[in-house]
Amino acid sequence: MATIPAGYTLLLLLPFCLTNLCVSAEELNIEEAILPESSLQKPSVLIAIIARNAAHTLPYFMDCIDKLNYPKSRIAIWAATDHNIDNTTAILREWLKSVQKLYHYVEWRPMAEPQSYPDELGPKHWPASRFTHVMKLRQAAMRTAREKWSDYILYIDADNFLTNPQTLNLMLSENKTIVAPMLESRTLYSNYWCGITPQGYYKRTPDYVLIREWKRLGCFPVPMVHSTMLIDLRKEASKNLQFYPPHEDYTWAFDDIIVFAFSSRQTGIQMYICNREHYGYLAVPMKPHQTLQDDIDNFVHVQTEAMIDRPPLEPSRYVHVPPKHPDKMGFDEIFMINLKRRQDRRVRMLRSLYEQEIQVKIFDAVDGKALNTSQLKALKIEVIPGYHDPYSGRTLTRGEIGCFLSHYYIWKEVVDRGLEKSLVIEDDVRFEPLFKHKLMKLMNDIEEVELEWDLIYIGRKRMQVERPEKAIPNVMNLVEADYSYWTLGYAISRQGAEKLIAAEPFNKMLPVDEFLPVMFNKHPVEKYLEFYEPRDLKAFSAEPLLIYPTHYTGQPGYFSDTETSTIWDNETVVTDWDRRYSLKSREQGQIHSDAQNKDALPPQPTLQTSSRDEL
Ligand SMILES: *[C@@H]1O[C@H](CO)[C@@H](O)[C@H](O)[C@H]1NC(C)=O
Ligand SMILES: *[C@@H]1O[C@H](CO)[C@@H](O)[C@H](O)[C@H]1NC(C)=O
Ligand SMILES: *[C@@H]1O[C@H](CO)[C@@H](O)[C@H](O)[C@H]1NC(C)=O
Ligand SMILES: *[C@@H]1O[C@H](CO)[C@@H](O)[C@H](O)[C@H]1NC(C)=O
Repeated sequence: MATIPAGYTLLLLLPFCLTNLCVSAEELNIEEAILPESSLQKPSVLIAIIARNAAHTLPYFMDCIDKLNYPKSRIAIWAATDHNIDNTTAILREWLKSVQKLYHYVEWRPMAEPQSYPDELGPKHWPASRFTHVMKLRQAAMRTAREKWSDYILYIDADNFLTNPQTLNLMLSENKTIVAPMLESRTLYSNYWCGITPQGYYKRTPDYVLIREWKRLGCFPVPMVHSTMLIDLRKEASKNLQFYPPHEDYTWAFDDIIVFAFSSRQTGIQMYICNREHYGYLAVPMKPHQTLQDDIDNFVHVQTEAMIDRPPLEPSRYVHVPPKHPDKMGFDEIFMINLKRRQDRRVRMLRSLYEQEIQVKIFDAVDGKALNTSQLKALKIEVIPGYHDPYSGRTLTRGEIGCFLSHYYIWKEVVDRGLEKSLVIEDDVRFEPLFKHKLMKLMNDIEEVELEWDLIYIGRKRMQVERPEKAIPNVMNLVEADYSYWTLGYAISRQGAEKLIAAEPFNKMLPVDEFLPVMFNKHPVEKYLEFYEPRDLKAFSAEPLLIYPTHYTGQPGYFSDTETSTIWDNETVVTDWDRRYSLKSREQGQIHSDAQNKDALPPQPTLQTSSRDEL
């Protein structure tokens, strides 16, 4: 006990004071007794939430607020909602009631009626009346923050998700009057502009993409930030900021974010966008005529994309989220192939599918890594004579054999159970927006024209890009499949599975994604064709594709794997059966031009022309 710090000495002495026996300063040895100054409390922040028809996003939005790493006693919540046709009001109320005691102060401004604006085209449309209303609300939130002497006001839209819990701290530390964390979306869309036209509209600039794609890192002065932004109300200039009424010189579009950018300019305040870190996501705005269901689908896509490289968005624990009802989309079975040891992929895919209300059966993949020579002999597996990988020159890998067997055993199950139409997907795919809807529509259209089909790719790599594929009359978005790689996802009919099994591929094996084109007679290597007869698989492909690999060569998160083992060496090898990660795919990636890569990439994102409308 020889090293009691000074503070303890004082504590021990305190009782003497209480009993009127105070010791003098000299006796206390004053040097030791001086206590350090306490640190400052965090600045006070008012979070302004304006939610409308946001029942589907609110629980996830709220969870991000719940998880902000900031003392809740220093936060006030100001929440308004109105003109709803969904359950927004009840959900917001439920959350506010639960969290009220945690926060410094909560203000709640619900408005039950009316449910819509008279001049709107749909629940996501922004007519002038709505802009006016929202501007007034934003102004009211600002007024409250000023009246309460909040140091800061944080505006955040109910479809913005601050998944980085440090976002508020990070924005505060920038010490800017108006600053916004750059939010990501599936397109180039984000919550800032780098250029404004003389009419006050969005102008595309080279800087925009550089910032959006993290090619330049920092906090950048920009003419416009919106959706999520932090305003320092202690700064002198902020006193004159206002959303409503618009500045008297204001002649630009009647839009709350443009009005505010103008106000910021008038008051001499520079807006900043920061991209030093990843802060979160935002949903791409809907078009005026789109429905609430479109917005829900849009959000599901935000969710599934967000969970590819980072943890999924979770609902707030303070609100009840109704369960989803997954189904098989009209298929008899949906198989999801997954290697037991790839639990990460399984978890992600199951969650992603659940969010899309798709019910799958997990099919345990054959692990190429665990296959030994005696098993291969017992199965009478032999490589097709003359097969060598066109890019690396090597023969079949164990991974490729495992992959083949996995698909093969599914075809067997399809036949054994008499499944008329099934879907097979691998476990490292990303989904197109509206995946479920688009696939169901495609299958419906096919049924309507009574097209006879064996296999329909929904994700693949087109190998033959020079000649166009034949479209199918009266079925939108379907083509006859030409030479293709990958088995990311395909629909298979019972007849198709029967044909593939009848081909008896074990003793003349090719990688499964080369086998399929042989079976529909589109493989360019003639010497493989002669081993298989007949080659009458009726193969088609969705066009555009409905699923893509989660990662491409060279992208962050790309899981590189050295797949160099052949079945004829029995040494321990690290190999994944997934061909996309094989040497072959890597080299293809280099061999095939950018045009080919573009073909495989999701559609190019479009930029926003106005704040909320994609023009
Ligand atoms: C609306 O939300 C409340 C609160 O979460 C919930 O109790 C209620 O069941 C929901 N109503 C509907 C129709 O979803
Ligand atoms: C923040 O900026 C203000 C000027 O707006 C300046 O006076 C102040 O010193 C800055 N604070 C820090 C911590 O840099
Ligand atoms: C091959 O694997 C099987 C199944 O794991 C095992 O039973 C067998 O003993 C193995 N054979 C050799 C030679 O390792
Ligand atoms: C590989 O197989 C050969 C014979 O086929 C055997 O001599 C050798 O020990 C095996 N190596 C391993 C690592 O099992």
